[in-house]
Parts: sequence; structure tokens; C-alpha cells
Amino acid sequence: MTAVLGIETSCDETSAAVVIDGHDVRSNIVLSQVDLHSKYGGVVPEIASRAHLEMFDQVIAEALADAGVSLDEIDAVAVSSRPGLVTCLIIGVTAAKALAWSIGKPLLAVNHVHAHVTSSAITLADPPWPAVALVVSGGHTSLYYLSDPTRIELMGATTDDACGEAFDKVSSILGLGYPGGPVIEQTAANGNPQAIDFPRTMLKRGSLDFSFSGIKTAVLYHVHGVGKTSGGLEKLSSEEIADVAASFQAAVIDVLVKKSMLAVNQAGAETLLAGGGVLANSVLRERLRDACANTGITLHLADRAYCTDNAAMIAAHGYYLLQAGHISRLDEDAHSAETNELIFAR
Ligand code: KG4
Ligand code: ZN
Repeated sequence: MTAVLGIETSCDETSAAVVIDGHDVRSNIVLSQVDLHSKYGGVVPEIASRAHLEMFDQVIAEALADAGVSLDEIDAVAVSSRPGLVTCLIIGVTAAKALAWSIGKPLLAVNHVHAHVTSSAITLADPPWPAVALVVSGGHTSLYYLSDPTRIELMGATTDDACGEAFDKVSSILGLGYPGGPVIEQTAANGNPQAIDFPRTMLKRGSLDFSFSGIKTAVLYHVHGVGKTSGGLEKLSSEEIADVAASFQAAVIDVLVKKSMLAVNQAGAETLLAGGGVLANSVLRERLRDACANTGITLHLADRAYCTDNAAMIAAHGYYLLQAGHISRLDEDAHSAETNELIFAR
């Protein structure tokens, strides 16, 4: 039995979790900072890192207490080390290094996006790989091929905005507030998804890359009119706003589903995994279920609790790294970008 303590501070959630053997989640404490950032319409890095610093020790203590596990029963400490806001990541990374050193147990530096990639496996009895995985979050919209949980190859990614970012920006254009995903979903539930034919950007034939800046601009022009900068929103009724939200959501989801199916096809895979904050969206979940059912593809969606940022997925992914012998050194650092490869201690 291997108990991994996971720590997540890459953006605006302070989270800690204890997960046994990569799937038995004994605790998963997630402290959202959304109230601190909502009045600014997005995450303010300085406010986020200060809030992490104030709360991380309490959140870790609560995760241990909730799991009924003491620190000396922890076998390894896993932490999001990249990508993310560096001033936020550094809080978790520093805490994890100090804890790992003090208990003499391995440190596991986890790529946050890879943890989203494998987040749907937490609740599964059997390993789902090899598989294709879709990650849809505030910072990423990517397709991957996984031979196993530590060998993850990028198949396609967004060339501009991430789809969660598009939800957030469109929500702001529609005056619906932050974070945009949940409020767009709620508003869209009362609208007609066919009311407006927003662009479905597919890029080159066979491409697995994404682009969401065009649809964001199309929504902006639809609301404000070309050449004007403001004043359009007041002219829209709440029904019309709901139609815009529903049509936007439908267009984004069409692209996500089509490209996921294309990726599975190109990889000759039989299984699709999906994770990330946008996967909390019920319409996306339903559309992926339908598409996979129609084509005989096995689909594993991350549980809603493991879609938006959480430390359970970090601990679970850390377990895979531990099993593969990918232990990090105590001079591990936080990185804003995903490109820095980890240096594994041998
Ligand atoms: O994975 P996540 O918590 O953080 C990142 O790693 O980026 O994803 C956050 C994103 C935000 O853009 C948020 O608007 C979006 O996930 N999101 C949703 C929904 N819930 C959260 N997007 C669409 N529908 C939702 N229900
Ligand atoms: Zn995330």
C-alpha cells in the first residue's frame, strides 16, 4: 500500500489530497479562491500566490486529518511543478520539497496537464491505457496519446486561446461574470444552440490542433457589431443572451468532439480519456458519450470532482511516476511552461 500526499497550487485552487495506490482517494481538500478574483474578471497572480501562502499548511493538515493518516505514514509527496503561474507553483513546490525532505520520502514533480490527462483513471479498477486523451482546461486544449501514464505524447493543441479561456472571455463579453464556464453552461441551458451559426474552426484537413480566437471574435461582433466598441449588450434580451451562450457552447463542443474522434481514429486507439475543467460541462460529457457509443470507442470521463484543479489527480499521477522510478531531486523548481523536462534522480 503506497500513500501519496498530493499538493496543487498552480493557479487559483489551493489543494491537498491523500491517495492510496493511485486510485483510492482518502481525502481531497480543494480551497477555491474564486471569490478573491471574481471582481477582477480573472486570476490575479499576486493575490493568488499570497492566498496559497496563507492557506497551504492548513489545507495539507486538513487533507492528512481527513484521510486519518499521519505525515510519517506518507510514502511520497507529489506536487504540480509545471505549467502554471510560477509565483503560485513555487508555494506548493517549496512546501512539497520541505515535507519530502523532513520525512525522508521521495519527491514527485508532476506535470499538471499530464495529471489532467490521467485524471479519469482515478476511479477505474483496471488501467485504461493505451488511449487517446482530451484535456480541456483554462490553459490547455490538447489531445495526447498515452502508451502508459508516464509516456504521454502530444497529438494536437490549441494555436491560440484554450477552450476554457474562450468560455471565460465569452462570459465576460456577455456580462455574465467569472469563471465563465459554469455560468455559460447555466445560461445556455435556456437558449437555442442553433440560433446563431458561429464558426467551427477545424484548421487544416486532418489537423488535431485547435483555434478558439475566431469564435470569440465572432461572439464579440455579434454582440457589439463590427466597428463599435460597446453598447451592444444592453440591446440584447436575456433570451438572446441565452441563445448566444448556447450557440457558442454548441460550436466549441462540436469541434472538441470531432477532433477527439479524429485523434482516436488517427491513433488507431480504442479508448478515449477526457479531463480538465471544461469537462465539468454536462453537454460536452453527453456529446462525447454519444459519439463514443456510436463508434464503439470506450470512453472514460474524469469524475466531476477531478475535472477542475485538484490535488487528488496530482497524487494519483505522482503514484504512476513513483512506480516508473521517476523520482525528482530536491532542487526541483517551478516552471511556467510545459517544455522543461524533469530531471530524474537516478
Ligand atoms: O482545469 P481547470 O480547473 O484549470 C486549469 O488548469 O486551467 O479549468 C478551469 C477552466 C475555466 O476556464 C472554467 O471556465 C472552465 O474550466 N470550466 C468550464 C465549466 N466549469 C469550469 N467550462 C465549461 N463548462 C463548465 N461547466
Ligand atoms: Zn488544471
